[in-house]
Amino acid sequence: MTAPKKLFIKTYGCQMNVYDSERMAEALGGQGYEQTATAEDADMILLNTCHIREKAAEKVYSELGRYKGLKADKPDLKIGVAGCVAQAEGQEIMRRQPMVDLVVGPQSYHRLPEMEARVSQGDKALDTDFPEEDKFERLKSRPKAARGPTAFLTVQEGCDKFCAFCVVPYTRGAEVSRPAARILDEARDLVERGVREITLLGQNVNAYHGAGPDGSDYTLARLIWDLDKVDGLERIRFTTSHPNDMTDDLIEAHGTCAKLMPYLHLPVQSGSDRILKRMNRSHTAESYLALIERIRAARPDILMSGDFIVGFPEETEADFQATLDLIEAVEYGYAYSFKYSARPGTPAAERAEVDAAEADDRLQRLQALITRQQRDIQQSMVGRTVNVLFEKPGRFEGQMVGKSDYLHAVHVTDATLSAGQIAPVRIVEAGANSLAGVLA
Ligand code: 5AD
Ligand code: SF4
Repeated sequence: MTAPKKLFIKTYGCQMNVYDSERMAEALGGQGYEQTATAEDADMILLNTCHIREKAAEKVYSELGRYKGLKADKPDLKIGVAGCVAQAEGQEIMRRQPMVDLVVGPQSYHRLPEMEARVSQGDKALDTDFPEEDKFERLKSRPKAARGPTAFLTVQEGCDKFCAFCVVPYTRGAEVSRPAARILDEARDLVERGVREITLLGQNVNAYHGAGPDGSDYTLARLIWDLDKVDGLERIRFTTSHPNDMTDDLIEAHGTCAKLMPYLHLPVQSGSDRILKRMNRSHTAESYLALIERIRAARPDILMSGDFIVGFPEETEADFQATLDLIEAVEYGYAYSFKYSARPGTPAAERAEVDAAEADDRLQRLQALITRQQRDIQQSMVGRTVNVLFEKPGRFEGQMVGKSDYLHAVHVTDATLSAGQIAPVRIVEAGANSLAGVLA
């Protein structure tokens, strides 16, 4: 028997990349690779990349630069680039960094074993197709390795919305939903391996429209109700949603499905109707606020989370104020905010940009407001009893950390706790990034 080769995967960007990296590691497991935590002892390095903002893409090239020395010391080392930078740049990556052996786009991961075989013969391999075959079927995991208590599960991929700033429709392609039966099989398999919480993933997850087990058209809500029946699965989450796809049955499920957690990530991007229109978002600030009102009527304690872009082309101070007003009205538990970054090939990239210093200033003001809201909500948890799914030991002796139903990080010091356990916890203190509690 030959010793296993070592695979180092570095993952950038969204949760779907985390999921994809797991699938790629499994696919390469069949080629005799096992994962290692350091690039230095790897036989293959795979960067699973993100192209959403310019900074994210540039990180990849600087990381590749760091591997030059490694490759000089170990000529057999193979270097691959996967993910959305691979899809967007393709051949260009090998031109800029000739030491790269393999470039694979997100829709071609199931072809990795065959690409690896070519690369190990000394050839280069590039695949950025959008093939017809079902990638997920071909990426089925083989060994039933034990897992931690939480897992991601991709149910839908790609996007047909074409927001004017966004590369996703180009890098991940058109919206595709996996059949519900396959998702349910995968969920049962995860539960057998120790998973208690599943986060359903999709770039437009609430646009899910896969075939149901009986062949009927499924919505995300129907899929959630089927998952609700999986014994041993205790918590269901999903991300990321688009306001226009919040269907009535999904809103209702937030009020009636006990396993569906009271947390919703619902990006709005801006609070200015003029900018929303220029972003091609096809909702208004008012329709978004009305939607949140309906969601909160179904589940009053739901914690809202969002994404914001500041400094989108043509954004004025008044537009920005409208965004702050919207944030004030919603009260977010979490929010992710970004300075606009022009992405080649998107419609907004052609437009005049907002002054960089002005955009920086707006970003700071927006983040200050969000941080205040976040802290207020965390503070309001003190004295309340919440359920926590414990995931792993904390930094201190006897401490365990986990997530509340609202996705707050919670730590508890109690020797009786173990990973995978769900227990009611009384929150006693709110820190900057986590809550402290005692078993209730
Ligand atoms: N510039 C800045 N932020 C962007 N996002 C997407 N594209 C861009 C861009 N070109 C943000 C959006 C999206 C999140 C994942 O990233 O807020 O919801
Ligand atoms: Fe990008 Fe989301 Fe808009 Fe789709 S809906 S184009 S993924 S920002």
